[in-house]
Amino acid sequence: MRARVLSGIQPTGSPHIGNYLGALKNWARIQYDYESIYCIVDLHAVTLYQDPQELRAKILELAGMLLAIGIDPKHSALVVQSAVPEHTELAWMLTCVTPVGWLERMTQHKAKAEAQETIGDGLLQYPVLMAADILLYQAAIVPVGEDQKQHLELARDIAQRFNSLYGETFVMPATHLPTVGARIMGLDDPETKMSKSAVGSGHAVSLLDPPAAIRKKIMRSTTDSNPAVDFQAMGAGVRNLLSIYQAFTGTDGDAMEAQFTGMRYGDLKKQVADAVVASLEPIQKRYHEIVAEPGYVARVLREGAERVTPIARDTCDKVKHAMGLYTA
Ligand code: TYM
Repeated sequence: MRARVLSGIQPTGSPHIGNYLGALKNWARIQYDYESIYCIVDLHAVTLYQDPQELRAKILELAGMLLAIGIDPKHSALVVQSAVPEHTELAWMLTCVTPVGWLERMTQHKAKAEAQETIGDGLLQYPVLMAADILLYQAAIVPVGEDQKQHLELARDIAQRFNSLYGETFVMPATHLPTVGARIMGLDDPETKMSKSAVGSGHAVSLLDPPAAIRKKIMRSTTDSNPAVDFQAMGAGVRNLLSIYQAFTGTDGDAMEAQFTGMRYGDLKKQVADAVVASLEPIQKRYHEIVAEPGYVARVLREGAERVTPIARDTCDKVKHAMGLYTA
């Protein structure tokens, strides 16, 4: 049996080039080497309030985008998390073996909680549900951006704890980061991670931004007070622009230095904008074709759920049996 890959993305906001370079590009690239399952995690999205109508629309939009970036539904399963109830079933069983202290230490939960007046318990349980997404399919490889590393470590800790309490049940999942682009920063503020929820029109390039908007955002991005690119002394903004260029074009490190050393920031930005526009144009074209086909995306999601359900059921039954829960 081929090793299994699993990853997930929340259907909130608009997917941006950080999501693409940190994760989605890898999803498409490695899908044929493994048995791949990619998940739109709507249950994670509702750990913070979402407008119901908007959420429904975003799920289908995101599925269309994942197909447009190259997820091949003939080979990979594209699944909406809440369509496979075993995700929540396993999450409960894992909750019972997860010490609260482990969850309280998670930095993403703390950052999200700070912005809220009250928080639902789901926000604390968020990483347990994420561990369930992964362990449910006995995934060996999880391609993500750097911000998910801590959650992945927790998933391994939970798997280990379960295995030691109840016997070998789960495969240990490995984190798979891209070599370039694992952490793309905001264009307006290169000290913060590019994020779907950040407000501010100059922060992120959405995968569906028209070329003129992409160029405007990149041309206005924050750099530093140096006049030109210096690989020995560069600020976070310039480093971020170079990473974006490198990740989109696949240029190697030496060639990057040769190409950009001494280049003025205006010219650097123009080259970065050209590379981003050229890479996103075919994706946007495919996206519009895909969503124009009535019923296609919904069918892909239905087939995806049907394909993975036997695997999910099998794991849940094993876990129930291991814990002594009632199985008919
Ligand atoms: P989410 O929806 O925030 O992001 C989806 C993927 O994009 C990556 N990413 C980035 N990579 C580079 N630079 C950035 N600025 C950037 N922003 C986001 C993320 O690392 C992620 O890989 N908790 C997850 C979703 C999830 C999941 C899972 C992931 C739920 N269950 C199981 C893997 C396995 C999340 O919120 O991703």
